[in-house]
Amino acid sequence: MTAAEFVPDHGSLDELRTAVQGCRGCGLYQDTTQAVFGEGPEDARILVVGEQPGDVEDRRGRPFVGPAGKVLDRAFAEAGLDRTTMYLTNAVKHFKHRPAAAGKRRLHQTPDRSEIVACRPWLVAEFEVVRPAQVVALGATAAKALLGPSFRVTKQHGVPLPWPSSADRPEDFNGAPEAVLVATIHPSAVLRADDREAMFAGMVEDLKALRGPA
Ligand code: URA
Ligand code: SF4
Repeated sequence: MTAAEFVPDHGSLDELRTAVQGCRGCGLYQDTTQAVFGEGPEDARILVVGEQPGDVEDRRGRPFVGPAGKVLDRAFAEAGLDRTTMYLTNAVKHFKHRPAAAGKRRLHQTPDRSEIVACRPWLVAEFEVVRPAQVVALGATAAKALLGPSFRVTKQHGVPLPWPSSADRPEDFNGAPEAVLVATIHPSAVLRADDREAMFAGMVEDLKALRGPA
């Protein structure tokens, strides 16, 4: 199964956002509040891809509005980027989690490869509408969705890459307009790190690569 049969052909962002609520392209829709689609201007120059909605995003229906989103907003601000001009989305549109113990937050689970592939038609559709000049991959899941399973964020973060022409990128993106892609860590990794300040500073440095050489 994939999302392909649920994605309207040449849909606008609003049509896609409505249609994604009916997606049954993988099992992740079960036990969630809603799908969380991307958000931002249709003519955004920069398209940012995260992993999947978290607990807060699942309840509110918008990407990056929880703790990771706060880190991201700070990183954008320090890198001189304005979130309201960018299109923000996720590789996977439903929240994958373990059921919570009573009164506790539901625990995030990393989506697996089959779920990333199943959900990719939504991401492809978002790229078709937005046609960004620059792409940001936040963390390994986003990087794998955009660049294939062999990409390593730990080695290749902060390096502007030609995309989709990079060798290993998935065929789903054949025909996407050429852009420059920069990968960096996921903002949740900053929250989990022992040395948050150093991780955060590294993320800001990576994001500055979008502006070109200083
Ligand atoms: N983490 C993500 O990758 N995306 C969100 O929308 C929120 C947290
Ligand atoms: Fe569809 Fe993606 Fe949700 Fe799976 S995670 S049901 S493919 S929208």
